[in-house]
Amino acid sequence: MSLPPGFLDELRNRVPISRVIGRKVVWDLRKSNQARGDWWAPCPFHQEKSASFHCDDQKGFYYCFGCHAKGDALSFLRESEGLDFIGAVKVMAAEAGMQMPEPDPRARERSDRRTQLFEVTEAACRWFRLQLQTGAAAGARDYLARRGLDPEAEARFEIGFAPDSRTALIQALREKGMAEALIIEAGMAARPDDGGAAYARFRGRITFPIRDGQGRCIGFGGRAMDPNARAKYLNSPETPLFDKGRNLYNIGPARAAVARGQRLVVAEGYMDVIALARAGFEGAVAPLGTAITEEQLRLMWRLAPEPVIALDGDAAGQRAAQRLIDLALPMTGPGQALRFVMLPAGQDPDDLIRSAGAGAMAALLDQARPLVDLLWARETEGQVFDSPERKAALDRRLQEAIGRIPDELTRRHYGDEIRAKRHDLFGTGWQARRGGSGAAGQRPARRGGASMAPNVPRAPMLQASGPLSGEWLLEGASLLICALRPDLVAVVETRLERLLPQDPGRAALLHDLLSGGDSPDGRRALETLRADAHLGLTPAVIESQDEVAATAILANLLERLEARRAAGAELARAEAEIQGEADEGLTWRMQQITRARHRAERPEMEDSGDLNEDRDALSSQLEQFISGEIWRKPPRR
Ligand code: UTP
Ligand code: MN
Repeated sequence: MSLPPGFLDELRNRVPISRVIGRKVVWDLRKSNQARGDWWAPCPFHQEKSASFHCDDQKGFYYCFGCHAKGDALSFLRESEGLDFIGAVKVMAAEAGMQMPEPDPRARERSDRRTQLFEVTEAACRWFRLQLQTGAAAGARDYLARRGLDPEAEARFEIGFAPDSRTALIQALREKGMAEALIIEAGMAARPDDGGAAYARFRGRITFPIRDGQGRCIGFGGRAMDPNARAKYLNSPETPLFDKGRNLYNIGPARAAVARGQRLVVAEGYMDVIALARAGFEGAVAPLGTAITEEQLRLMWRLAPEPVIALDGDAAGQRAAQRLIDLALPMTGPGQALRFVMLPAGQDPDDLIRSAGAGAMAALLDQARPLVDLLWARETEGQVFDSPERKAALDRRLQEAIGRIPDELTRRHYGDEIRAKRHDLFGTGWQARRGGSGAAGQRPARRGGASMAPNVPRAPMLQASGPLSGEWLLEGASLLICALRPDLVAVVETRLERLLPQDPGRAALLHDLLSGGDSPDGRRALETLRADAHLGLTPAVIESQDEVAATAILANLLERLEARRAAGAELARAEAEIQGEADEGLTWRMQQITRARHRAERPEMEDSGDLNEDRDALSSQLEQFISGEIWRKPPRR
């Protein structure tokens, strides 16, 4: 429907925004200034007791200082009532006593056609549901049961079954009086190129209806049960209803959950969303069989200022994260941020929740890292910065990336963060600008010359501030290694005794490790560590090491942890020194190990003593040990 020019302005002028919003909130009259049209209330979009939601009649806008929800009267109606744009206009027009313009006939026709298409998809959805109860669906029911879905979950997500028939659905819909052309246009059937009879698109598959923000069925995803099927999932084609790039699976229930205060979690697949929602993470959504698009990011940000992207712990998930960094940077700013969690290797949220429980998932989500950390990791990890040229190349890449952020303040804060991380890595200022942020600027440079160790990035997680501090991770890594390799405990016993974890679970685990005990708290803490994505590679790395190498890794972690804990003003210097020594000590041990390996692998050759060769092997090992085990290395681009 097209609105005449000025219609919306007139509407906004006639209805103060506070009147629309006032039906949903209780104004804090002490904080508000009614005469000036300046209103405050507890926010209707997130749970809070204080009044951080502000609306201004003059400007016609609202903004929440807590959850950053913002918009005008129309967007408020859309968000709070789940209306579409025209629906919201109608509500306000009635309020303003204004006549809605007559829709033009072409638009009328289009919307009638959409209504008819929705009738087709809704009928198909009901029919698929019914089919799941038939004898032909016995295999499908078994499959769902094996995947842990009960009838309640099937009802909640309207899971159905498309029987292996080319015609059954078409027939059923035709009997309801629906034209074949409409069935095809709705994406439920296709006509072969040779012009033969139309055939049902979904056959022999479990069906997941996909609904838009208003709860209307716009398409389906179909899961094959046969592991050899050509496509594991088949999705509806693009239709007038189904625009893959502009919708998200489970968007309606997720929006409601986010409004109740849940976090918005973005997973990769339908089954992940279902598992998350059933485990209590009801703000879960997923893209529809394609990579996340710009439009989908905007859609997420309309729901929540900081969605958590939970990608599968596999190469595809890593690639998706890399792509998302580039997609999001030019859009990021206040109220438009992203956080990331990577799942343990080879797992998706569905797997993790099934194997380790909702608690493990919650622990992961709590540790989600901001976008800037991913950017830094991507540009530094697995690389050696041992020459001015390499450092310059890094600076250029980072500056280029930050330059794509449109919001100036955000850009500046990215610069500060990156400078701090860079300082930790090189021990020098950022380009010519020195000592940008006070404390960091005064930190002494790391000793480079004396050590043979190349400038290998330490894991970025170790420099993290905030909820997931480096100490927390170092401590976790040390405990996990001890649990994996109890044979090492005796070697580092005294150091372990000084560890004194603050977290009671970890304290219990440490006690168990030292005493050979097995307490429930300790076991739980260990489970959490095993499920920690940042420690995902630890088992693989540590279990493949001989005792000397594994001890060296563990000792290095403990040294760093102690350095970080060294109290007082000397902290920075102490760390730099201990770090330097640790690196040298480690370097020497690694060199010995590398030499021994070389000899073992190539017995026909004498130890060449070629330092460069050793250094290469050495640096790759260091990379693996120092950065890889904490944060899995992204695939080389
Ligand atoms: P995954 O391969 O990660 O599957 O695809 P999954 O979600 O873990 O599914 P299960 O647990 O094996 O059943 C993630 C998403 O990618 C799309 C689907 O949207 C799927 O949910 N996809 C995947 C397709 O569209 N087609 C495919 O062939 C595979
Ligand atoms: Mn899965």
